[in-house]
Amino acid sequence: MKKVKQLNSGKCLADYVQEAEQVIRSFLPEESGEAARLMEAMNYSMTAGGKRLRPVMMHMSYEMFGGGEDIIFPFMAAMEMIHTHSLIHDDLPAMDNDEYRRGKKTTHIVYGEAAAILAGDGLLNLAYETAAGAVASVSDPLLLMRGAKALKILAEKTGINGMIGGQSVDVEMDGKPLDAKQIDFIYCKKTGALLEASLMIGAALAGAGDEQILRMEQIGRKIGVAFQIRDDILDETGDEKELGKPLHSDARNQKTTYVTLYGLEKADSDVHTLTEEALSLFDTIGTEHPVFRDLLVSLTQRRK
Ligand code: IPE
Ligand code: IPE
Ligand code: MG
Ligand code: MG
Ligand code: MG
Repeated sequence: MKKVKQLNSGKCLADYVQEAEQVIRSFLPEESGEAARLMEAMNYSMTAGGKRLRPVMMHMSYEMFGGGEDIIFPFMAAMEMIHTHSLIHDDLPAMDNDEYRRGKKTTHIVYGEAAAILAGDGLLNLAYETAAGAVASVSDPLLLMRGAKALKILAEKTGINGMIGGQSVDVEMDGKPLDAKQIDFIYCKKTGALLEASLMIGAALAGAGDEQILRMEQIGRKIGVAFQIRDDILDETGDEKELGKPLHSDARNQKTTYVTLYGLEKADSDVHTLTEEALSLFDTIGTEHPVFRDLLVSLTQRRK
C-alpha cells in the first residue's frame, strides 16, 4: 500500500476561513476617486459574508503539495472575486432574479442593475489584475512558471469552457427539460469548474506535476457536482435565514435540477457517493490533509 503522509498544519477549519477572510479583504479596492461607488458595490458583495470555500480549499491544496510562499494569497483573493462576480450576475433579473444573497439584499437591489453588472465585471477583472500582478512581481524563474500555469488555469476554468459556459447553458435551459448528460455538463461547468480551479491552482503554485494537477481536477469536479446537488436540495428544503438566499429560486425559474430529475433521496445519496469518491481519490495523492477531509464530509450535511 502507498505510504500516506499526514499533514498537520496545527490549524482548524475556522483558522483557514479566518485567514482567507483577511487575505480577501487585503486585496479589496479602496473606495475613492470618481468611480468610488463602483468600488463600494464591489466591496458590498465581497464583504457580505460567504463561506470562502474556494480560497480555503485552494490554500489547503497548496499545503498538501508543500507550498509555503505568499504567492498563494493573491490567487485566493482572485478566486473569491471571480466567484462573487458569478453570484452578482447569477442574481440579476435577466438570470435568476433573486433578491437576497449572503443574508443581504443583492447588489442590483441595493445599487441598481447597471451598477451590479459593472461591479461583477469589475470583480472579474480585478481578479486577473490581482493574480497577474502578483506573478509579474516574481523574480524566481521557477515560481514565475508556476504562476503562469496557475493564471492559465484560472482563466480557462472561469471562461467559456468553464463556469461562464455552464451558466450560459443553465439559463438557456430555463423552462426546458434536461437529460442526465446535460445536467452533468451544467453542474461540472457552472459549479465544478471553480472548485477544480481552486484545487488545481493550489497544486500548480506548489509545484505539483501535471498528473497530480489532473488528479486535483478530478477531485474538484466531484466536490463541485456534489456541492451543486446539495445546493439544489437546500433550495427546496433549506431554511431561508440560515441559507441567506431565497428558497425555491429554481422552481420559480422553472429549472430542471438534480432534485426535480432524480428526487431528493437519490440527490442526497449521490452527494454522499460523490464525496466518498473524492475522498478515495485523495488517497492516491500520497498526502493526507485531515482538515480538508473533515471539511468535505461536513459539506454533505451543510445547511448553508
Ligand atoms: C453558491 O456558492 C453558488 C453555487 C455554486 C451553488 P456558495 O454556497 O459557495 O456561496 P457563498 O460563497 O458561501 O456565498
Ligand atoms: C449558481 O448556481 C452557480 C454560479 C453562480 C456559478 P445557482 O443559481 O443554483 O446558485 P445559487 O443557488 O443562486 O447560489
Ligand atoms: Mg443560477
Ligand atoms: Mg442562482
Ligand atoms: Mg441554487
